[in-house]
Amino acid sequence: MSEKSIYILGIESSCDDTSASVLRNGKVLSNVVANQEIHTAYGGVVPELASRAHQQNIIPVVQQAIQRANIDKKELKAIAFTRGPGLMGSLLVGTSFAKSLSMGLGIPLIAVNHMQAHILAHFIDEKEQKKPPFPFLCLTISGGHTQIVKVSNYFEMEVLGETMDDAVGEAFDKSAKILGLPYPGGPLIDKYAQLGNPKTYKFTKPKVGDMDFSFSGLKTGILRFIQKNVQQNSNFIEENLNDICASIQHTIVEILMDKLKNSVKITGIKHIAIAGGVSANSEIRKVLKEAEKRRGWSTYIPKFEYTTDNAAMIGITGYLAYLENNFSNINTSATARLKVDSK
Ligand code: KG4
Ligand code: ZN
Repeated sequence: MSEKSIYILGIESSCDDTSASVLRNGKVLSNVVANQEIHTAYGGVVPELASRAHQQNIIPVVQQAIQRANIDKKELKAIAFTRGPGLMGSLLVGTSFAKSLSMGLGIPLIAVNHMQAHILAHFIDEKEQKKPPFPFLCLTISGGHTQIVKVSNYFEMEVLGETMDDAVGEAFDKSAKILGLPYPGGPLIDKYAQLGNPKTYKFTKPKVGDMDFSFSGLKTGILRFIQKNVQQNSNFIEENLNDICASIQHTIVEILMDKLKNSVKITGIKHIAIAGGVSANSEIRKVLKEAEKRRGWSTYIPKFEYTTDNAAMIGITGYLAYLENNFSNINTSATARLKVDSK
């Protein structure tokens, strides 16, 4: 093998997934994700339980990632870790672990912004996966964020619009909770929606800035609608679950598309990427593909496993930073709040 091998270890622990990944020159060799089942019983992530589970998972997860990559840890060139944003207790586990391992191995550390990493997952070297050219717009949709970002270069990003209140993932999860579905409800709404009619029920869309979002009003609207109907028929949810889910999903996806259309009009940029956990949603994927033909957009949809939180996206961001000699030092601290345009 004549090409120099740059092996990067990525570590992700910002919320409720403990993940480690090894990349060679931007190609994923392993991507191990330990989901924390414990939160299901509570209907949402419990921060204290999340950080405890990270502590239990981190060593086996990193060990497995290195083993599956079939390398020796001494071959690693750098360790990239999520610095923020996220839950402080969770971030601290990954940060402390990354620091100790980098000291032990005598290799550099790279602090990664989780929101940038969701976007930069598009640059993972994958067969048949086209990479967006600069500048492009990225709709980042996750459980904690909803943003339209203008990406001018790997580390040059600008937020054009964002949510004023709830994130789109929360809109999915809270709607699911109202319907009595377990956490995280987004994937379940997606599943039932595929069997329902999206035009059955109408929900009011929010009125905010052209590129901004708001989901708290929609949540209240859905809650009132369900309460009213359940009063009249106690089996309303069970009898109409597929149509309710399809109508909720249709409204949310329409809101996302309205904002993307506005952003394309305002910026003139027609290269559109999506990122974050909600980009796993089948309807948004379908509608975006249709926009290629209908609107002349070029769309970029990440591989399924790189949409929800994972360490491969941290690894690719680390690799791109490595190529720019962009390292962090041991004093870098975890930061619960971190904007997409800061390092
Ligand atoms: O990016 P992510 O894994 O974690 C955060 O950084 O927040 O996103 C998790 C969110 C959850 O709200 C989950 O319900 C949502 O992504 N999600 C989905 C789907 N898959 C995951 N929402 C709608 N449809 C899906 N298929
Ligand atoms: Zn995330």
